[in-house]
Amino acid sequence: MRVLLAGATGRVGRALVPRLRARGHHVTALVRDPSRAAGLDLDGVVVADALDGAAVRAAVPPARPDVVVHQLTALRAGTPDDLAHTARLRTEGTAHLIAAARAAGAARIVAQSIAFATAPHGGRVLTEDAALYLDAPDPGWARTVDAVADLERQVLGAPDLPGTVLRYGTLYGPGTLYDRAGRLGGAVARGRLPLPETAAGVTSFLHVEDAARAAVAAVEAAADGVFNVTDDDPAEAAVWLPEYARLLGAPAPRTLPAELAERLLGWFTAYQLTALRGAANDRARQALDWKPAVPSWRAALAGG
Ligand SMILES: NC(=O)c1ccc[n+]([C@@H]2O[C@H](COP(=O)([O-])OP(=O)(O)OC[C@H]3O[C@@H](n4cnc5c(N)ncnc54)[C@H](OP(=O)(O)O)[C@@H]3O)[C@@H](O)[C@H]2O)c1
Repeated sequence: MRVLLAGATGRVGRALVPRLRARGHHVTALVRDPSRAAGLDLDGVVVADALDGAAVRAAVPPARPDVVVHQLTALRAGTPDDLAHTARLRTEGTAHLIAAARAAGAARIVAQSIAFATAPHGGRVLTEDAALYLDAPDPGWARTVDAVADLERQVLGAPDLPGTVLRYGTLYGPGTLYDRAGRLGGAVARGRLPLPETAAGVTSFLHVEDAARAAVAAVEAAADGVFNVTDDDPAEAAVWLPEYARLLGAPAPRTLPAELAERLLGWFTAYQLTALRGAANDRARQALDWKPAVPSWRAALAGG
């Protein structure tokens, strides 16, 4: 198939390009800076800033894609500006890609979403049917979830363009936040991420290579809908954080009184460690014929 990949130079994108090519797909990358694509083994490159609708609509049709794959985020530096940019990529960027995909006569769009945007109600592990946390008490997270919901609505509701939404779990692996050299890995390695007393938040992790494998499966399976793409081992922070520290050769995390968690860690990290729910991957296993090659974070979270 002819695939137009937006986000080919990101962490997931770089893992995805060789996997698509190895399956015989023709891959054109949509990039804003062609120098970032140097070294990627691509069939073609088109240039547009994803937030520039006219540029995206001009760039995509010449690539004649059968499938448009959206792996755009802007989370590398982790600043508030990055979150705002990412929200715009999810709202405006998605709209531009859908318009361009329809103009190009594409048969499907596959888009990256997140598996940890559900509201923290019900059991420890939720399905795709759980409600999103649109009323999160933190305005920044509420905006993020709102943008995620908008992306999903657009991808699933585009006229004449079937859509697949991949809700990735918390990504780890080389080049991610959880890499030994990443922001979170560095904090844990230096003993800077304490464990709140009630560390019952459940994280569903996902190795970046499994994210890429799921995107290939979605391109080939042509299944409509929303799919959690997560590993098989959702884990409470009280389990994964001490184990992660051990894997990093760091001291065991110190315990933080619950009432200090939000003030010292920030809302999102405190929420992740105390209240987040995991995400079940049964639907992706069935409909996409995908399963994680790294079924548990336990051995691999610190690298590899
Ligand atoms: N589910 C999760 O946990 C999750 C999901 C996503 C990301 N992350 C975290 O975010 C970090 C970075 O991941 P990543 O490398 O995949 O994401 P990234 O660095 O944000 O890259 C995403 C892609 O989007 C492109 N992009 C961004 N803004 C664009 C624009 N305006 N127009 C066109 N292209 C644009 C980037 O291009 P450039 O190369 O030009 O910047 C890149 O190809 C990792 O540490 C990862 O852990 C986590």
